This record gives sequence, C-alpha cells and structure tokens, in this order.
Amino acid sequence: MIPKPLSSVRSEHRGGTAPAGEVRTRIDPELGREAYELRRSASGAEVTGGSEAGVFYGLQTLAQLPPGGDVHIVDAPRFAWRGVLLDVARHFMPVPEVLRFIDLLAFHKLNVLHLHLTDDQGWRIEVPGWPRLTTVGAWRGESMRGSRIHELYDGRPHGGFYTSDDLRAIVAHAADRHVTVVPEIDMPGHMQAAIAAYPELGNGFAGPVRTAWGISPHVLNLEPATLAFCREVLDHVCDIFPSDLIGIGGDECPTEEWPGGRELQVAFTAAMAEHLAGRGRRVYGWDEILAGGAPEGAVIAAWRGEEPVEVAIRAGHQVVACPDVRLYLDYRQSDDPGEPTPVGTLLTLEDVYAYEPPASPLVLGCQANLWTEHMESLRRVEYMAFPRLCAFAEVVWSPAGRDFADFAARLPAHLARLDAMGVNYRPLTGPRPGDGRPDAPGNPRTLADRLAELHEMTADLR
Ligand code: ACM
Repeated sequence: MIPKPLSSVRSEHRGGTAPAGEVRTRIDPELGREAYELRRSASGAEVTGGSEAGVFYGLQTLAQLPPGGDVHIVDAPRFAWRGVLLDVARHFMPVPEVLRFIDLLAFHKLNVLHLHLTDDQGWRIEVPGWPRLTTVGAWRGESMRGSRIHELYDGRPHGGFYTSDDLRAIVAHAADRHVTVVPEIDMPGHMQAAIAAYPELGNGFAGPVRTAWGISPHVLNLEPATLAFCREVLDHVCDIFPSDLIGIGGDECPTEEWPGGRELQVAFTAAMAEHLAGRGRRVYGWDEILAGGAPEGAVIAAWRGEEPVEVAIRAGHQVVACPDVRLYLDYRQSDDPGEPTPVGTLLTLEDVYAYEPPASPLVLGCQANLWTEHMESLRRVEYMAFPRLCAFAEVVWSPAGRDFADFAARLPAHLARLDAMGVNYRPLTGPRPGDGRPDAPGNPRTLADRLAELHEMTADLR
C-alpha cells in the first residue's frame, strides 16, 4: 500500500526524528479482523490489529511510511476479497517465482491468490494415481509466439508441474502472509491437457497437449468414470488447499462434442458442487456457470465485461468482480507500439484506478487477472502487473471516491520501493526498447468491438 493516509484515516505528521525504538504489536479483537491501528513516535511504534492479519497490514504500512514524524493511522480494508489470478498453466512458474509473487501481493495488502492450475495448454498439479497428468499433460511441444491470429510458433518445448509438497509450500508461504490460495481446476472445458494424458476422459480426441492459444474444442465427456476422475482430483485439491472455495472453472466450454447442450454442463457443475459440499467446500466458478442456474452457495468470478456482476447479484450469488475490460492485466497498458505483445483492450493505470464494482453486500471484492499466454517469465508478469496492481490494491482497500491525481503523486515513492525489490514494473514513461516483443506480435482490440463481442457472449445470461 502506498503510505499516504487514506481518506478515512486519521493521521498526524509532525516532523521529528526517525523512530529509534522498538515495534510493539498487539491484537485487539474489538477491531475488525483485518483492521489495524498504528502509532509511531520517536520512541518507537505500536501496531494493534484485529487479528494477526490486521497486525500484518499495520506492519506493511509501517515499513512503507517515509521516515520521521509522529503518525497515527486507523485503517481497514473495504473488501474481504482482494484477489489476483495467476495463470501458471499457459506458462509454468517455478515455485520460488510463485513465492516472490505472493510476497509482492502481500506487500500490497492483497489477500487472495487464485491459482489457475490447469488448462488446454498444460496441467500443473501432480495427482496421485494419475501419473500421466504430469508426465504427459504438463508438457507441450511448443508455444505460440504472440497472438494466435498470426499462427507463429516458437519451436521450443515448455512445461513443468508442482508436486504436492511444492503446493503445500506455496500454501504455507501464502498463509504466513495472510494470502489464501484458491486453486482452480478448469472443467469441463479447457481440459485438453488432461485428455491428451488420458484420452478416455475425452470424446475421441487422441492428440497432444494444445500448442495453440485459444479454446480447445476437446472437452471432457460426462461419463460416470470421468465424473469420478473429477471428484478424485478435487479430493486431492481439498487435501492440499484449505481454502473454503475451490475453483472449478466452467468458462468457455464448447458443447459440440456432447450429445446435448449447456444443460449437461449445468448438471456437471451441480455434481461437482455437491461433491465439494461433502468436503465442506464451495464452488468458485466463472460467470458461465450462471447460465441455467449455478449451484446454491457458488461464488461467481464475473469476467465477461461488467454485466455478469449484476446478473450474479440478481441471482443472489456472492460475486468477485473481475471484468476483463477493467481488470485483466494481460490487456495492453498503452497504445505504444513498443508494448510487448499488445492484446485486449486498452487498460491504463488510470483505468484500473477508476474501477468501481457495483455497491452490493454480495460483492465480496475484486480480482485482477493475469493470463500468461504472453508472459513467458515472472519478469514479464511483473511488467504487466505493476504499477497497475498498485492501483488495484487501492481500489480494493480504500473507500470509493479516490483521486487519481493524488495516487499519481504518491506513486513515484512507491515505485522506488519496487525498484529496491527489483520488480520489473512498466516505467510510467512507457516501455523501454527491450520490453517489446517484435517477434511475438499482438492483436490490439477496440473497446467498442470487445463490448459488442461480450454482449453476444453473455446473451444466455439475459
Ligand atoms: C476467462 O478469462 N476465460 C475466465
């Protein structure tokens, strides 16, 4: 968080010397769970939190305050869900990189990591009894260079997967920083990697892990044995991830291979929800699962523009707002032709800062999504994430009515902190010569075109 008192925060800055004293922490359950009170004077600092999480956030603020001066801050987040999706399926990120990414989230007081573990282009989680998911499903022969419209390939194999111990280490590292890891197994579409490993899960497809970006037409069959497989995978996921919510995806599932239509997916989602309920968990699914009725208690990740957030609210579901045109950080940061692989609609720092979800108690919060087709390394993820994720952190923490000019004035001091941590953020002045990917051309879209497309895509929600 950028260390300027928020509008709701009382504070005093009186000048003086840097604190030489100790930092004392304490828990006062009278405060909200994630709230904190921070007092700093020349003799030291005291951080009181509503829980260990509140203390943690107070300490983040303390670490980010300019030196010197007495300070009194009372602070609490606006939203309980301050999330980021990291797609480790399109590009695998080794464990140390995931841990560093979690550190950066926690530094910005973000508290949910939605980990997209499986997709057509790679399966990243070891599952006992299903070895081919990782010996076969975790590897693809090559990757596309740039937007799929150009049909260019790099000719270089890519892959990797997490063992159960890896994932437990990620969960523990995140928990220490008050970040919940919400895992996602994307089903029943986006499953080509699993079907490549076990063709009996599919509908006759016998081929490799998908090398092209975009959506595979090859989806799960919905035979009893395949549902048993899905339940087994979810059981393993529940064993590793303590999260109350378990992502089952549900987005972009073509039905051409099925003997029926969307109603088959509705029944599939209901079966998975029932299974998870037996484990004391709830479904987290993309807004496609609203079509035909989502299971009771399902939390919706509303991504296809802004309308599905409203649809989820009307249907009485809790919802996490992640509209692509407002919060997809794989979308291009400027019109500069030097941006790496520019895709999606224009989404500037100011656009992200300006985002406001609908006011409803059903809105748990928001989520910024990092799909990694065009992010081949953590370095590239950092370029796309920052500084937009700094703006997002204020969207989900601070009250409405924020002022971009005020944020922009505070940002350089924060970027100096990111410099100190070696974060490869996008310079405010634009991409450096070496940031571009002329070898991986993009496909920039206009907002008008995308909104028209989204209107069509969400017709079944109206
Ligand atoms: C998504 O972007 N397919 C959820």
